[in-house]
Amino acid sequence: MKTLIACYSYSGHTLKVAEALKEEIDADLTVIKTVKDKWYFFKLWDAIRENSVPIEPCVTDLIDFDGLVVCCPVWGGKVPAAVNQYLSELKNLKGKYFGVFVTSGGGKSQKATVQMRSYLDGEGMLFLGQMSLRSKNVDEGNYGEVFDFFVKKFNSMK
Ligand SMILES: Cc1cc2nc3c(=O)[nH]c(=O)nc-3n(C[C@H](O)[C@H](O)[C@H](O)COP(=O)(O)O)c2cc1C
Repeated sequence: MKTLIACYSYSGHTLKVAEALKEEIDADLTVIKTVKDKWYFFKLWDAIRENSVPIEPCVTDLIDFDGLVVCCPVWGGKVPAAVNQYLSELKNLKGKYFGVFVTSGGGKSQKATVQMRSYLDGEGMLFLGQMSLRSKNVDEGNYGEVFDFFVKKFNSMK
């Protein structure tokens, strides 16, 4: 199975995990970047309102892939606006496998994974796994059993 990991990361935690995952499941990695940066408050506002913001060109066509992992930090309990934009640009996703993961400071009531899952479910993708990691653990290089489990799920599809 050929998998694409699409990663938005502002301060590097999510990207660090995405790069480790890339090695473990032998995936391709595309990095989602916003065209412009915004102040903290506006980042939060856009995320909470489930807004989209313009992103730089990256891989959005899954024609050559069997699976997709979308990953990002949690902002205001939700996904950053860049991720909403990325999801809306995806093509050829129906019937393909997907997983999602987030990194966060550890706040409760995170809607971010649900947000990504419900969008991709609605587009006819097939859910394989999800995980949520704390930035503190990522700093320590401690991804835990959830990471191993996530890796196993994707490697079992090969
Ligand atoms: C604008 C903004 C909003 C955030 N909101 C939350 C939040 O609601 N809950 C939480 O646990 N962490 C929150 N965080 C912390 C990040 O989710 C966490 O540090 C994450 O691991 C950063 O990932 P990155 O380094 O890949 O950008 C927020 C950080 C920023 C910059």
